[in-house]
Amino acid sequence: MAQQLEDKFHRKFYYLRLSVTDVCNFKCTYCLPDGYKPSGQKNSSFLTLPEIKRVVRAFADCGTSKVRITGGEPSLRKDFTDIIATVANTDGIRKVATTTNGYRMEKQVAEWQQAGLTHINVSVDSLDPRLFHQITGENKFNQVMAGIDRAFEVGYKQVKVNVVLMKHFNAHQLPQFLEWIKHRPIQLRFIELMQTGEMDDLFKEHHVSGVAIRNQLMAQGWLLKVREKNDGPAQVYFHPDYEGEIGLIMPYEKGFCESCNRLRVSALGKLHLCLFGDHGVELRDLLEHDSQEPQLIQRIQDQLQTKSVSHFLHDGNAGMTPHLASIGG
Ligand code: 5AD
Ligand code: SF4
Repeated sequence: MAQQLEDKFHRKFYYLRLSVTDVCNFKCTYCLPDGYKPSGQKNSSFLTLPEIKRVVRAFADCGTSKVRITGGEPSLRKDFTDIIATVANTDGIRKVATTTNGYRMEKQVAEWQQAGLTHINVSVDSLDPRLFHQITGENKFNQVMAGIDRAFEVGYKQVKVNVVLMKHFNAHQLPQFLEWIKHRPIQLRFIELMQTGEMDDLFKEHHVSGVAIRNQLMAQGWLLKVREKNDGPAQVYFHPDYEGEIGLIMPYEKGFCESCNRLRVSALGKLHLCLFGDHGVELRDLLEHDSQEPQLIQRIQDQLQTKSVSHFLHDGNAGMTPHLASIGG
């Protein structure tokens, strides 16, 4: 194995988030309120299957054991199942996850599982179908729910569900969410709204800290789970009366970046060291042949030495990221 990926702050990177498309068919208010618009950039075709294979192999050869396939909406790629299989068949990769809006899940999740997908995250910002429609721009609540049911049917032991916390939409719906996970092995993750470049008033209007949720949980007897070594930044709570768990992701909380264990590659083949604030470094010229792997690894290692300690979001820095669909949540 090449040298384990590690930065100047002794953080080790086991986890790659790989975006395979910027395209999305939903219009989430906090992400793509006007829907997906092609960037018009030259050479804007997304990573091909052979390029995906090479980039994942290079990361795996430096100790990466988990890959999340993201987007945009990754399942809109016609070769999505082949992408899963390619990642899953890479030596050293033990976890293959995806984050999806759930649109294709009911029809395809069995196929994804066959191909080697081990973990699924799906976004459900409200359990009220009308509100779901209002937030995502799509009247697909029932379809997404059917997708989650199907995932359990085909054998997933747990499904993670992402909820972006928004003051006037869902912040008061904790009781509904708790009821829903009482008898379902769902890890429901409240994600604090993050400010991105193309967002103006939405952040001011809707940002609410996860602390209020945490206080309600603790008052009701929920307990913090002990963190495992390779856990990401979510604080996870459990309760003896509930099959499901609650995760809180609070990027504005002090110390959030200390547990950073992930790197990102965009659908156009750029390495991003942080969700916020970097332009990305081109990798694509080193994804043309298998023989370029040593140079590719060198470039990734060199870049990693420039990773900064924190995202500095607290200082009002919304970074270079126009919206999370461009870099894969
Ligand atoms: N703030 C917080 N979470 C976001 N996501 C997308 N945009 C934002 C944002 N501005 C999350 C959604 C989705 C995942 C892909 O990224 O939860 O589940
Ligand atoms: Fe699409 Fe996900 Fe962005 Fe919603 S958050 S518009 S589902 S990429």
